[in-house]
Amino acid sequence: MSKKIVLSGMRPTGKLHLGNYFGATVNWVELQERGDTDCFYFVADWHSLTTDYDSTEEIAGNIKEMVADWLACGIDPEKSTIFIQSAVKEHAELNLILSMITPLPWLERNPTYKEQMREQETRDLHTYGFLGYPVLQAADIIMYKADLVPVGIDQVPHVELTREIARRFNHFYGEVFPLPEPYLTETPKLLGIDNRKMSKSYDNAIYLSDSEEELNSKVMEMITDPQRKRRSDPGNPEICNVFSFHKMFSEDETVQRIRRECQTAEIGCVECKRIMAEGLNRFITPIRDKRSEILKNESLLNIVFDRGSKRAGERAVLTMREAREAIGI
Ligand code: TRP
Ligand code: SF4
Repeated sequence: MSKKIVLSGMRPTGKLHLGNYFGATVNWVELQERGDTDCFYFVADWHSLTTDYDSTEEIAGNIKEMVADWLACGIDPEKSTIFIQSAVKEHAELNLILSMITPLPWLERNPTYKEQMREQETRDLHTYGFLGYPVLQAADIIMYKADLVPVGIDQVPHVELTREIARRFNHFYGEVFPLPEPYLTETPKLLGIDNRKMSKSYDNAIYLSDSEEELNSKVMEMITDPQRKRRSDPGNPEICNVFSFHKMFSEDETVQRIRRECQTAEIGCVECKRIMAEGLNRFITPIRDKRSEILKNESLLNIVFDRGSKRAGERAVLTMREAREAIGI
């Protein structure tokens, strides 16, 4: 039986937080371990340039931090192909070709494009490259003839667009590319410490690299049930972000006890948070230790990148040969 090809990428935003971890990385590891898959995971460094073209000094460091986290979380370079987009130049060639057949309105109505254009005030995003973001993403995906693309719900329109572009290529030049499918999994709802979506840019994230002290103080800052103003007020754990964390990081018995004692005001929020921080630390400590080991070993990541980029490159060369032949130039 032929294996399912899995492909996903991330822009190099630096160290991962719990939102990234549960939103993406665990799914990547799970797919890697399934046994019937061939996984490609890559750093979308060219995609960073679509928005951060004027400040590139952090990209190289961010790549290392991010991939150290991937490895610490269980992405295994022996099992998955880990590579950097810009090291496989074929992505640029396929991007160019796909850009020729992608109608502008498809890009202009892309929800991420419209949203970012509205929200980004600090940067000028009226660039050719930013509009073309999903074309490059389509090239990334179909280059490996991916079947499954594990992404968050916000990226689904990009995978849909990839299917449209691949279909159009096949229609003009012949069946070269299979149509990929987004692979979505249920992800637990962990908000940032201020109850907004966990995000680096909101400065509300808990990182896999946070020290025990940082974790403890972030947990103490977390917003709880806003109705519970005094210690003697009963709380509602179901609307409390701290309780969502308990469900992820505490033993079942503890979760049940906290639920009960919060509702009856037997436990206070400070004590409740202290217990949660213990569980969170138990979870993060091995990851934090592993990532710092990885970062200490100067050559390790370079070896991973070199091998991965070579492996990915070999596939890309084959695909491009087919694509060029189909087009006839
Ligand atoms: N756009 C994705 C993100 O922002 C990153 C990405 C680039 C990607 N190319 C990809 C994801 C290909 C999946 C497949 O997260
Ligand atoms: Fe939230 Fe715990 Fe306070 Fe209840 S006791 S409101 S679950 S922090």
